[in-house]
Amino acid sequence: MSPVITTIDDLHTLYRRRVPKMFYDYCQSGSWTEQTFRENETDFDLIRLRQRVAVDMEGRSVATTMAGRDVSMPVALAPVGLTGMQHADGEILAARAAEDFGVPFCLSTMSICSIEDVARKTASPFWFQLYVMRDEEFVDNLIGRAEAAGCDVLVITLDLQILGQRHKDLKNGLSAPPKLTPASIANMATKVGWGLEMMQATRRTFGNIVGHAKGVGDTSSLSSWTAEQFDPRLDWDKIKMLRDKWKGKVVLKGILDPEDARLALDVGADAIIVSNHGGRQLDGALSSIRMLPEIVDAVGDKIEVWMDGGVRSGQDVLKAVALGARGVMIGRAYIYGLGAMGQKGVGHALEVIRKELDTTMALCGEKDIHDVGPHNLLIPKGFRGEWEPTGRNN
Ligand code: GLV
Repeated sequence: MSPVITTIDDLHTLYRRRVPKMFYDYCQSGSWTEQTFRENETDFDLIRLRQRVAVDMEGRSVATTMAGRDVSMPVALAPVGLTGMQHADGEILAARAAEDFGVPFCLSTMSICSIEDVARKTASPFWFQLYVMRDEEFVDNLIGRAEAAGCDVLVITLDLQILGQRHKDLKNGLSAPPKLTPASIANMATKVGWGLEMMQATRRTFGNIVGHAKGVGDTSSLSSWTAEQFDPRLDWDKIKMLRDKWKGKVVLKGILDPEDARLALDVGADAIIVSNHGGRQLDGALSSIRMLPEIVDAVGDKIEVWMDGGVRSGQDVLKAVALGARGVMIGRAYIYGLGAMGQKGVGHALEVIRKELDTTMALCGEKDIHDVGPHNLLIPKGFRGEWEPTGRNN
């Protein structure tokens, strides 16, 4: 009998059982002490909801637009590296689930299935996330490939030019495909379903890179790629050049400070994503939900502001939207579903979130997601934090 899925946590439990430890740990880690990773989730819990009653709830809608695209709810699937290691052909399956659900899928540069693989197996345009590399020819080539595949939005990640240390990845020797060591073999021997499917997968290493980029020592290692290829000189001039090169919409991901939000506006971004990379980069930074209101105050009337980090339920989506986010990206929440049961699991994750969002909205006395606002929330005093002005530009 198939299990009854009612929460994202149900999917997490199944995911943990099914997927090799190396890839589970990759997903379920933050950098260093993991403070930011934890607080991305726990800060959502500090915000409470205002219950309203005797409001006509019929004819509700959570549909909206993100970067001009109609979406069935304000949620997109975030770019996640190595998704095709969480489940064979993971990127293709997640993109198809998103397509069926009417939400956008964003493919990571560090995906296992390539841009072309996903384009071949889907009908609607997907979004492409770009890491800016030292090799300009390679970047131009990636952008050209995304354009040729029909991608309509380029999401440029700004917060990972060097990798924040995630201890478990080093200890596990994370790689794609996984290196065969006594520990990895012993663990994979217990993940039979995963292994059998993976043997038939389209790809088992970084599909956008291998065969396209030059000069990388270990082609299976994320840390080698980032150290050798990612461009640590990335600055706003380069971002502007990329903005001008891409004909479609450009979304800048990894903004956590109002001053950077204003700079993103200056270079002509169409949207920004308030993000700390799921707590995987600068540990000690504030959670995305805590930084969201200040960034919305700074630029929210001029540009779409989205957020990611810690979203594990429809209630979290509602809280982010109420604080001014046009939409959110989910990463781990859909990876749990994917690892647990492939495309069907991603569909479950989206359905769990949609139902929670819809019911919560109704019980808060709203019928249309566009009417949700801070008036639906109880926000604890001092939520934004009171910080010394030292070091702040604004
Ligand atoms: C990005 O690819 C990450 O590992 O966070």
